Amino acid sequence: MRRGRALLTATRDSLPSHVGNKLRCTTCHLDEGRRETGTWVGVFARYPQYRPRSGVVETLEYRVNDCFRRSMNGTALDPAGPDMRDIVAYFAFLSRGVTVSPPAGASARLQKWATFTADTAAGARVFAVSCAKCHGALGEGTAGAAPLWGPESYNVGAGMTRVRTAAEFISRNMPFDAPGTLTDSQAFHVAAYVNAHPRPDYRGKENDWPNGDPPPDVAYPTRSHH
Ligand code: HEC
Ligand code: HEC
Repeated sequence: MRRGRALLTATRDSLPSHVGNKLRCTTCHLDEGRRETGTWVGVFARYPQYRPRSGVVETLEYRVNDCFRRSMNGTALDPAGPDMRDIVAYFAFLSRGVTVSPPAGASARLQKWATFTADTAAGARVFAVSCAKCHGALGEGTAGAAPLWGPESYNVGAGMTRVRTAAEFISRNMPFDAPGTLTDSQAFHVAAYVNAHPRPDYRGKENDWPNGDPPPDVAYPTRSHH
């Protein structure tokens, strides 16, 4: 369990051949996975779970590897190996006492963002005032925070490239030193601005949502949806 937590917080140093950017798992799963957005508390009780992006019932190991391949722009771990075993042990530890139950429904939570229309010029102004000092004027990252776009960031297939997902994360957690101080429209526009920049590609992304049910803010066309 302690080793699993160490892998999640020092991911690149611990598993260099599986990480293709400057992020670590806890860059988005804040407070070692205890923060509400993207929480790992209870995650052990929410899997296996059907997920529309893959169209299959995913194990927790599959879901972990999805974040390795997409959010970390890296490669999957052996699902039966010791690194995965220790990561899952940490999730089980964070989930003790949680009843096995279906997921709470991320899409319902994100629905509030449906009424906003992206304005990347307004987002650029928010970025300069509230984000650049930590994430760099070009989103390239600094010693204090990870890159938000470019070759060392999350790839196109990552959940964070969805503007609603990013807006939800940013509105609850950023600026890191003053979370909750952005208005909803500021959070939405800056999310659109961040995600309008180039980042690594994700091969095979067109095969996502094989049953033709992508959410409206997916950043790329999929084969099953016309
Ligand atoms: C760029 C941001 C980002 C990074 C880095 C990242 N993730 Fe995620 N992760 C997400 C998002 C967004 C979700 C979806 C959250 C939701 O549905 O509420 C997610 C979901 C998950 C889930 C499923 C949670 C659930 O309740 O269904 C697991 C497990 C997970 N990530 C593990 C990892 C691991 C392990 C790493 C490092 C290898 C990692 N993540 C790195 C953004 C990230
Ligand atoms: C005081 C410094 C600071 C400020 C200001 C700040 N952030 Fe962050 N941000 C962080 C830190 C620290 C993390 C987590 C990094 C880690 O632990 O690896 C983070 C993580 C993120 C992430 C997760 C994905 C990634 O690539 O890092 C996003 C997205 C993000 N910030 C967006 C923003 C936006 C948008 C703003 C402006 C509204 C902002 N941040 C302002 C420090 C800051």
